This record gives sequence, C-alpha cells and structure tokens, in this order.
Amino acid sequence: MGIGEPAHPDVAEVLISAERIQARVKELAAEIARDAAGQDLHLVVVLRGGVILAADLVRELPPPVSMDFIAISSYGSETRSSGVVRIVKDLEDTVEGRYVVVVEDIVDTGLTLNYLTNLLRDRGVAALEVCALLDKPTARRVPAEVRYVGFTVPEAFVVGYGLDYKQRYRGLPFVGTLRPEVQESPAPPGVPPRL
Ligand code: PRP
Repeated sequence: MGIGEPAHPDVAEVLISAERIQARVKELAAEIARDAAGQDLHLVVVLRGGVILAADLVRELPPPVSMDFIAISSYGSETRSSGVVRIVKDLEDTVEGRYVVVVEDIVDTGLTLNYLTNLLRDRGVAALEVCALLDKPTARRVPAEVRYVGFTVPEAFVVGYGLDYKQRYRGLPFVGTLRPEVQESPAPPGVPPRL
C-alpha cells in the first residue's frame, strides 16, 4: 500500500498500522517467552477476536506452546452492562497446574476478562497472565490486570486484526475506524443479529 492510498474503502482512519502491530507482536512474544522460560506455556485464546493475535504470537514463541480456545458471550447486548456472561464454547483441555496466558484482541469494560480469569483460577491454574493487543482503559467497569498490552486505544469503535463490525473486518492487518456510513448500513445476508 502506497502513501496516501486508502487502506480499505470502508475505513475512515488507520490508527495502528500493520507494520506497527507486527513489530509490537514480536516484542510481546519476546516478553512472554522470557517470563515463561522453563514453563509449559499454554495459550487460552478468546474467540473470536483473539484468534488473529494468537496466530501471530504462537509463531513467534519458542516451542513447545499449546493452545486452546474458549468463546464467551454476554446474555444479550441489552444486558451486557449487567456483566452476566456465559460460556458458548468451553476449553477442551484442563488448565489445572498450568502456566496460562489468555490471548484477547481487546479489553474494554473488563467484564469478559474478569469472568474468564475467575473461571481459570477456580480451575486451578498455576500461573495466569493476560495478553491483549488493545487496551481501552477509559471503558473499564471492573478491574482487569493485563500484563502484556500491545497498544492503548482511545474511546472509539475500532475494527481490524481480530476486531469486527457485524462479523466483518477481522482480517484487516491494521486497526482502524470505520466510515460512519458503513456503520449505518444493514448487515450482509446470513449474519444474524448478536444474541
Ligand atoms: C470482545 C473482545 C473481548 C471483549 C472485550 O469480544 O474480543 O473478548 O469483547 O470486551 P469487555 O472488556 O467489555 O468484556 P466480543 O464479545 O465482541 O466477541 P468477538 O471476539 O467474537 O467479537
């Protein structure tokens, strides 16, 4: 992409370029590798958005590294503020006694992470750290400890590198904002409203 060319026709502004993300992911992987040296590192990836970061991180981490996946949802957008969440897809493997790093795309209110870290502690992890590409501390409603943060972002709706709008744009290699008219358009066929 040349200077001045639009990153994507639906994108208003690129906040964090693909090059910056890739460089930062390498740094995060190096930090995690250093801290987890000698441990049996197990990544718990939060679906769906955490997949992109996890895929890049795991290729920068020295083996052996294992991965498992969990999907968590609020009971509905209208009740999201209640903090009530449920497991949509649980982990396959035990986390008991393991050195776990949770991988997220973004920590916003902190409700998802709060629920997940309590769950993992209840299941007996030996060590628990969190890696998130983005941290939006101004949105926090409950405390969340995020040891490895890629970038701190302001209060804006962002897409890309795992983050979606109506299940689209997760594959953008950068993080950016959408043009307002895109956010007002209806969802594409086959994408049901979030429950
Ligand atoms: C997003 C994101 C985090 C969570 C952060 O997931 O991936 O898991 O919200 O928000 P919080 O700090 O306010 O809890 P989302 O529920 O949108 O699902 P997705 O990853 O499938 O897009």
